[in-house]
Amino acid sequence: MTLTDEDLRHLKAPAAPKSGDAWTLTRDDAGVAWLTLDLPGESANTISEDVLDGLDARLAELEAEKPEGLVMRSGKTSGFAAGADIRAFRGMTDQAAVEAAMRRAHEVVDRLAALPRPTVALIDGFCLGAGLEVALACDFRIGTPACSLGFPEVLLGLHPGLGGTYRLTALIDPIEAMTMMLTGKSAHAKKARKLGLIDEIAEPRHLEAAALAAIDGRLKTSRGGLKARLLSTGPARRYAAEKMRNRTRARAPEAHYPAPYALIRLWERAGGAASTMQAGEIASFARLMAGETAQALIRVFFLRERLKSLGNRKDAAGIRHVHVVGAGLMGGDIAAWCALKGLRVSLADQDRDALARAVRRAADLFEAKLHTGPDRRDARDRLIPDFEGAGVGAADLVIEAIAETVEAKIGLYAELEPRMKPGAILATNTSSLPLETLAKTLARPERFLGVHFFNPVAKMELVEIVSHPGAEKDALAAARGLVARLGRLPAPVASALGFLVNRVLTPYLMEAILMIDEGASPASVDAAAERFGMAMGPATVADRVGLDICLHVADALREGLDQPMPDAPDWLKKKVEDGDLGVKTGAGLYAYDDDGKPKKGGEAAKPDDEMADRMILPMLNASAASLREKVVEDAETLDAALIFAAGFAPFRGGPAAYARTRGVDDVKAALAALEKVHGPRFAPDEGLSLLKKAG
Ligand code: NAI
Repeated sequence: MTLTDEDLRHLKAPAAPKSGDAWTLTRDDAGVAWLTLDLPGESANTISEDVLDGLDARLAELEAEKPEGLVMRSGKTSGFAAGADIRAFRGMTDQAAVEAAMRRAHEVVDRLAALPRPTVALIDGFCLGAGLEVALACDFRIGTPACSLGFPEVLLGLHPGLGGTYRLTALIDPIEAMTMMLTGKSAHAKKARKLGLIDEIAEPRHLEAAALAAIDGRLKTSRGGLKARLLSTGPARRYAAEKMRNRTRARAPEAHYPAPYALIRLWERAGGAASTMQAGEIASFARLMAGETAQALIRVFFLRERLKSLGNRKDAAGIRHVHVVGAGLMGGDIAAWCALKGLRVSLADQDRDALARAVRRAADLFEAKLHTGPDRRDARDRLIPDFEGAGVGAADLVIEAIAETVEAKIGLYAELEPRMKPGAILATNTSSLPLETLAKTLARPERFLGVHFFNPVAKMELVEIVSHPGAEKDALAAARGLVARLGRLPAPVASALGFLVNRVLTPYLMEAILMIDEGASPASVDAAAERFGMAMGPATVADRVGLDICLHVADALREGLDQPMPDAPDWLKKKVEDGDLGVKTGAGLYAYDDDGKPKKGGEAAKPDDEMADRMILPMLNASAASLREKVVEDAETLDAALIFAAGFAPFRGGPAAYARTRGVDDVKAALAALEKVHGPRFAPDEGLSLLKKAG
């Protein structure tokens, strides 16, 4: 589903609430008014109540003055405006108060739209959400080749609320308009011009001349009105709306993500009738804002900001050369990602073929992610295959990603450590081995830590930064800073079996396997988890991670933890012995076709709530245990980690937030009931009360 971490990433960070001083109004000799938005002390403009109040005051002046025209522009190089100040959305659960605030905001924007003389918005860079709604209230929009316009509200569980729904559908092809609002995708200059969202593309140095030409009536606009007229009849709109609903349903159920459905309903009922749509937009926006989904997604937005803030790039300034040992699935991709992000990387492996394969995969990554030949070549040059391991001595950070056994890793460290620069950091990508065990034989355990990337490296945003009692603070800070430099989210966790994410995720996977053992199909356990809102069902996850790895982690957790973990059924062990490991071998819990798609067979058995509880509640139990044992410091980091690394339903806000919404006592009672039927692995963890705290 699109409304998750990947997409939320491009929403801009919020600005602090500001005063109305953000606007500067000047007049030129020709009698044209120039109104510049420039929030003091911020890198990007956002639209807040204060900013709109400021605009209102300037509009009152302009109404009295009657200039020849008005040009609106931004004083920021980053763009026109990033959208609303998301901070103001937090805790806005009083629907009537939201409606009142929106009505007032609409009055200001309507006042702008009603100015009698031509108005022009100049857009250089991004123009999103409420920023775009202000621009849409102008008669003309002129963008630079770097402009990008869009409505990302749907990613926060909302739809546009400041006139966007009816102004956009009236301005451009309504189907295109709805698609933009339903997907949250931005349109860049050329597309925006083609759609009629902007009237002209001009180089920054020609923007002012282009604005004056528009005011003089010299700008020819071509706005597609035909489609809008065709869709002005109820039946045509109903037909189009039904198609949109079907497409949306395939990605997101209404029960979890009401916003796109509310938007479709609004347009279906009143498309083309601006004033009816305006009233409907305000009411619907307020309902969504006060609802659980939007509030949870807004919280997720801030969880991401919070994780981001844990990594300070400056702390990683000393890391220029990274040496990666192990060019397998993980090491190869970690090395490629580091090179993509500008680091010098040497990549070592005892197997030349593995090295060659990793370099080929890296070239594919650069091809996909970088747009110019020189950029791709530079990235390729930064990644040095290093069979002899000569890069160790030059590296500021060595990342080990070899086979998951204590003996192999300790043996390798004994070779590496004496050759490393003084002060260099040694990091392991282990997914389950306690760092204390690996650090025992090191000469400098204080420079040792874990950077646990998830698979696939190019997609998974979260990286666990694993500490142990002897690790130095500056080394941990450097690792978090590096993760930030790599465009990833660092989650600090303590060394414990499975760390945080695997500790919480493994009971979910193992319970699914037990249900398959009892006769449920993989497709039906997946359906039950997806119906709850998990990004991916457990059978699919297990096959992607690899059944061998799942089994290995589950065994390690079962042996090392106090909490009981289900035994793996014999058929699973046999599958692993036979090499049916999942996607990577073409067969696992599912069989796969040649394109790597799972063959799910006919209709999945109807998933029921008990199936979901059996998989989800053990995750809450393990979350509670992780908090109790201080594997993770607080419930926010826990929620964020599980959302960004394990696809825990974002609209439920993460395991701790879900437990709170459902009621921790209810969770305990449900676990106790499951314990009676299925045994002690469901015994409620004594740490569950810890989930009650925080918000
Ligand atoms: P892999 O089996 O794909 O690759 C390991 C590579 O290390 C092989 O190319 C092997 O030739 C090389 N190697 C082994 N011993 C070596 C040595 N002494 N010197 C040089 N090269 C050596 O393994 P994978 O999956 O990449 O895992 C690597 C590490 O990452 C493990 O610790 C694993 O637990 C961890 N990890 C794996 C994840 C996964 O989904 N596969 C996810 C997160 C962590």
